[in-house]
Amino acid sequence: MSAQLNDLVNNKALSPEDNPVLNGNFGPVSEEQTLHALEVIGQIPEALSGTLLRDGPNPVDPQPNHHWFVGDGMLHAIKFSNGKAVDYRNRWVRTEALEEKNGLKASPNAATPLMVQGSGNVNVVYHGGRVLALSEIGYPYEMDLTLDTKRQFDYEGALVGSMTAHPKIDGKTGEMLFFGYDMIAPFLRYHATDKSGDLKKSIEIELPAGVMMHDFGATATRVIFMDLPVVSDFQVLEDGFPMPFQWNDQHQARLGVMDRDSTTDTVKWIDIDPCYVFHPLNSYDDGDKIIMDVVRYNKVFTTPKDSSYARGAQLVRWTIDVEGGSVASRILSDKDQEFPRVNPRFECHPHRFGYTLEIDNKKGFGGLFKHDVLNGTTQYHAVPDDCAAGEPIFVPTGDAEDEGYILSVVYNETANVSEVRIIDAQNFEAEPVAIVKLNTRVPFGFHGNFVPA
Ligand SMILES: [Fe+2]
Repeated sequence: MSAQLNDLVNNKALSPEDNPVLNGNFGPVSEEQTLHALEVIGQIPEALSGTLLRDGPNPVDPQPNHHWFVGDGMLHAIKFSNGKAVDYRNRWVRTEALEEKNGLKASPNAATPLMVQGSGNVNVVYHGGRVLALSEIGYPYEMDLTLDTKRQFDYEGALVGSMTAHPKIDGKTGEMLFFGYDMIAPFLRYHATDKSGDLKKSIEIELPAGVMMHDFGATATRVIFMDLPVVSDFQVLEDGFPMPFQWNDQHQARLGVMDRDSTTDTVKWIDIDPCYVFHPLNSYDDGDKIIMDVVRYNKVFTTPKDSSYARGAQLVRWTIDVEGGSVASRILSDKDQEFPRVNPRFECHPHRFGYTLEIDNKKGFGGLFKHDVLNGTTQYHAVPDDCAAGEPIFVPTGDAEDEGYILSVVYNETANVSEVRIIDAQNFEAEPVAIVKLNTRVPFGFHGNFVPA
């Protein structure tokens, strides 16, 4: 991982002028725009009809020691129809914090008081007819496809506590599974909705301490919680750093497996070696065992004053023997990479292909990888030297697992503008079938999804 990103995930103290997340393409844009008549190179496939949504931080009035993860949320949308790119727009998520800073009126709040107000800056998903902008901690914000914020959303009062930014939508059943973590007990809650988006189940799960649980795994029958040694620590806030988490050698790393049909907090905990995982690629049942492919770091969030950090975010396969209480670990790809995605129709079910974003030591981000985990091969989609790709979002167009397109928001440093690359996933190393020039800059951000028309 690059030195810059190393600093970002380790709360390293930086002045705003030197802070890499406030400069270059990590830096925020200053205005909301709606742009039409976008230039397109190549031919946008007719099958690609819908809206690409991308979320990320775009801080207003960032404070000293600003951390990439805490900026005000901004969504970007590119609408496709009939082989054309109709328009691009970007809008801040209307939070109360944003209204206080720049006067853009906040959306109606959910009825239940929040412990922590989310910024809606991590991910945007579409489920049950709703577009939800999601935060690390806090309630989601319901948006429309033109990126107006409709309201803070708490499942009509049914959701207690936070909602993760990384729900899992079962690719076969359409149910959405998620959790929420908070920094006060019980620390963790599991939730499940039906395919229409009604909240059907919530289970409180106790943990020994509050940990940063950014994501989780889900199979057709089970869910997997990652209780890893990045522990909440309010002293970090008092020391002037905005992310209240630190690596803690005393915290036992473990995975918790729970049946999806459980109605109680019956979790089988299995100890693993210390590590950190922001994002699984996908998880599935393999008989009694579970296959969980993840991007694994040896260590992150070392203390603000100590940025020593074991580099490398590798794609790793965990084979979880639930009955035997052990986890076998095998490296699938040792290249530095992040933002793993699969064909959404295969989420929670056996996959063969996975897509990731290359971490580049000089630029921050590089090209894209397509992994064939069945054959153990990797293809690489290169971008020009002055360009850096974003999360690879798969849009299925047929029944074969890799039949579809990868969409990635790519930044061109020379022109200081961004573009959307549309890549045929079955011809991954070839030039994109189309490049949509956005004629503006989309800051490096986190996650997104495609909403079919
Ligand atoms: Fe994430």
